[in-house]
Amino acid sequence: MAKTKILFVCLGNICRSPSAEAVMLKCLKDNGLMDSFVVDSAGTCAYHVGEHADARMMAHAQRRGIVLTSISRGVRPHSDFQNFDLIVAMDNSNYRNLQRLATTPHDEQKIVMMTDYCRKYDLTEVPDPYYGGEAGFELVLDLLDDACQGLLKHLLSVE
Ligand code: 4NP
Repeated sequence: MAKTKILFVCLGNICRSPSAEAVMLKCLKDNGLMDSFVVDSAGTCAYHVGEHADARMMAHAQRRGIVLTSISRGVRPHSDFQNFDLIVAMDNSNYRNLQRLATTPHDEQKIVMMTDYCRKYDLTEVPDPYYGGEAGFELVLDLLDDACQGLLKHLLSVE
């Protein structure tokens, strides 16, 4: 069976999308589904390429038993659209930037919003926590936990 490949995308790839990657991996692990999926993350800007995740984000995730291991990278305009089945934007700006990078309707159809899969929260974006306080990082993790469970449920129902 071909693996389903998911790319999570935010602006800097140091807060939200590396957390989404780690939360999704934990969700897959908890469900014994690690072998059926490939999960990665990337950013639409290059400011933090090569860096570990933001130390504040890492600390908040760690408290929930989630370890962020990814190193920031930029979205690869052609190969990411070729390689991934689903490209998941954290906010509307990420979504628009991804749409600009898509070159075919097939590419465009791969782009979705993370919050579309939330079941408990009704926010329409995962808010950027970078310039905010502790509550912002907690909200990101709460939203991602909700959305990853919803996303997995969705993917299992359409397979
Ligand atoms: P992320 O958060 O997009 O969730 O990784 C940000 C990281 C860095 C910046 C903004 C948001 N920045 O402006 O450098």
